[in-house]
Amino acid sequence: MQPKPNIVHLPVYQPGKPVEDVKRELGLTEVIKLASNENPFGCSPKAKEAISRELENMSIYPDGAAVELTNALAKHHGVNPDQVIFGAGSDEIILMICRAFLQPGDETVMADQTFPQYKHNVTIENAKSIEVPLKEGTHDLYSMLEQVNEKTKIVWICNPNNPTGTINTAEEVEWFLSKVPSHVLVVLDEAYCEYLDDPSFPDGIKLLQKYPNVVVLRTFSKIYGLASLRIGYGIGQPGVIRSINQVREPFNTSRMGQAAALAALQDVEFIAFCREENKKGLAYFRQAFEDLGLKAFPAYGNFIMVDVQRPGQEVFEALLRKGVIIRAGHRQYPTSVRITVGNAEQNAKVVAALTAVLKEIAVKV
Ligand SMILES: Cc1ncc(COP(=O)(O)O)c(C=O)c1O
Repeated sequence: MQPKPNIVHLPVYQPGKPVEDVKRELGLTEVIKLASNENPFGCSPKAKEAISRELENMSIYPDGAAVELTNALAKHHGVNPDQVIFGAGSDEIILMICRAFLQPGDETVMADQTFPQYKHNVTIENAKSIEVPLKEGTHDLYSMLEQVNEKTKIVWICNPNNPTGTINTAEEVEWFLSKVPSHVLVVLDEAYCEYLDDPSFPDGIKLLQKYPNVVVLRTFSKIYGLASLRIGYGIGQPGVIRSINQVREPFNTSRMGQAAALAALQDVEFIAFCREENKKGLAYFRQAFEDLGLKAFPAYGNFIMVDVQRPGQEVFEALLRKGVIIRAGHRQYPTSVRITVGNAEQNAKVVAALTAVLKEIAVKV
């Protein structure tokens, strides 16, 4: 049996190491995981109640079109229900966008260090990823525009960018949208946008009216704390959403996911609490890194990328031995690691462990 030639060399996704594996492999009793940008405060208690209520409907298929959630979310964002689509995480929206819009040989433009699922799904469709170097960790929209041609079908803008955590401002994104040809779909991936209240940050949904070629991706996995339920969404013009809907599997989101998302959306206090705690965590990390003489990119999501001036993989492994899981292995930033903002106790632990590790490993830049 032969797989498609374009997937032969496709790597299998490497998730952040699970806590249980690390405990077992290293004989540790206490391990903290700050590797997958999950919410250290869990999720809203209202979401948990909604899940319990759904338990008795486990044997019944979900509403494939997620009508109740779609209506609530459309109202929340001031758009029409036909502008909304849900997926098994925004991961699945990325997959569906590629499935709906890419043919073999098409081109898409993205940053050279960004969320890996764009390139992964583009490759599966036998299309091409044009990767444009980040500029100081930020999308270089000017150079990205230069790569757009008649073969370009999609441009991916991850804002804030994973893994660097940087943002492109409203002014930059609007400039890009005003220049990019209208046949190009511009995906604004705003998975972490709820953590921001910076006035210079663009709200992609507001840009939709003026730029119908935009589709905005959001998720319930991050600030809403529902990563395991796999629910994310896309918002765009009805024509774009319809095309994505045409390739959607019939029951792609679960009853539990839909019910929890609906409840989570309404718990504004929980979201405000997480946003504030995250800000404190980022400020704590910034200060700690400065004290250690390390440089970090400006961080706007729930994670921060810091240059540890040593091979990131070695620092990752040394931290692992101390029961702290973070993320390394960033192609363009081999001496940097990405650390998710945890709760105050976890943040203090990771800083203490990093301080010790930096003394063990010699500087190598
Ligand atoms: C930028 C970005 N987009 C999309 C996702 C996918 O999130 P999910 O599929 O859980 O909604 C992630 C997850 O880490 C992400 O960082």
